[in-house]
Amino acid sequence: MPMLEIRLWPDAGDPAEIDYVLAWNHPDGFLMRFSNLRAIYSMGAGVDRLLKDPGLPEGVPIVRMVDPSLVAGMNEFVLMRVLHYHRRMPEYEVQQRAGLWGPLRPPLAEDRKVGIMGLGQLGRTCAASLAGLGFAVRGWSRTPKSLSGVQCFAGIAQLPAFLGETEILICLLPLTPETEGILNATHFAQLPQGAFLVNVARGAHLVEEDLIFALETGRIAHATLDVFRAEPLAADHPFWTHPRVAIIPHAAALTQPRTAARTVAANIARDRAGEPLQDVVDRQTGY
Ligand SMILES: NC(=O)c1ccc[n+]([C@@H]2O[C@H](COP(=O)([O-])OP(=O)(O)OC[C@H]3O[C@@H](n4cnc5c(N)ncnc54)[C@H](OP(=O)(O)O)[C@@H]3O)[C@@H](O)[C@H]2O)c1
Repeated sequence: MPMLEIRLWPDAGDPAEIDYVLAWNHPDGFLMRFSNLRAIYSMGAGVDRLLKDPGLPEGVPIVRMVDPSLVAGMNEFVLMRVLHYHRRMPEYEVQQRAGLWGPLRPPLAEDRKVGIMGLGQLGRTCAASLAGLGFAVRGWSRTPKSLSGVQCFAGIAQLPAFLGETEILICLLPLTPETEGILNATHFAQLPQGAFLVNVARGAHLVEEDLIFALETGRIAHATLDVFRAEPLAADHPFWTHPRVAIIPHAAALTQPRTAARTVAANIARDRAGEPLQDVVDRQTGY
């Protein structure tokens, strides 16, 4: 967009001259200084951190990142972990350490129930890919959905029914006051014994002690955690050495500058042409 002047912080010049800010993990109150903003772009898909800023300018639209490469990256990651669990890789890892040769028959994909919490940009793409591989996919969202090949559940009332048969649980919810701590002992107790957990949403969805307890009792057989309450994960955190926890350093899906820049540029062009912005966050629902 050669017609735009791009300024990189801290060389932003007069803050009153700035129309659009692209930000990630900015310090609280930082955005107040830009008095003429037309939009704030989050460089990530999740806007929980941004919305918690008490100094967030009122009335300025917040646009979240909807980047095709981010969606593709999350799809790859979720498929990788579902296949890892479906094909019983954690058991082979234990067998290898014990020098054991023991072929294990996985269930048919059509008998393997994979549940996705959150059927938004990311969740619904993963659901479609998993359904394409033949898995019995179920999804849970706030408002009712109808997706081909996916058994859909909605609202807190249908959460027990959704969890009750979910063998591999994927969390792809936004972090909001309603979803914080949703991966907790009460909900783990509703899963079948020996379920698998993949949390690729936000660390604060998970009550960490409840997961450790669920791993001890075998309610959860193994967990893949990409996100944590405090990042980077503290050096002495028990997850690091837990034999049934896989740790990924918040890298399941990263915003890719080449494709993300196109998305932001298209949205800025829309605004300059007087058209409505896309992917604007609802400050009330928090996503
Ligand atoms: N680990 C990583 O590398 C990484 C990368 C990118 C994103 N993320 C995380 O992934 C999250 C999801 O991203 P997205 O782009 O798919 O979000 P999205 O398009 O906004 O979709 C959110 C989904 O969650 C559902 N939902 C929200 N509140 C709910 C509630 N209280 N109960 C049940 N369902 C609820 C929504 O239901 P409705 O459809 O009914 O509105 C929607 O289906 C982001 O917020 C971010 O935290 C992580």
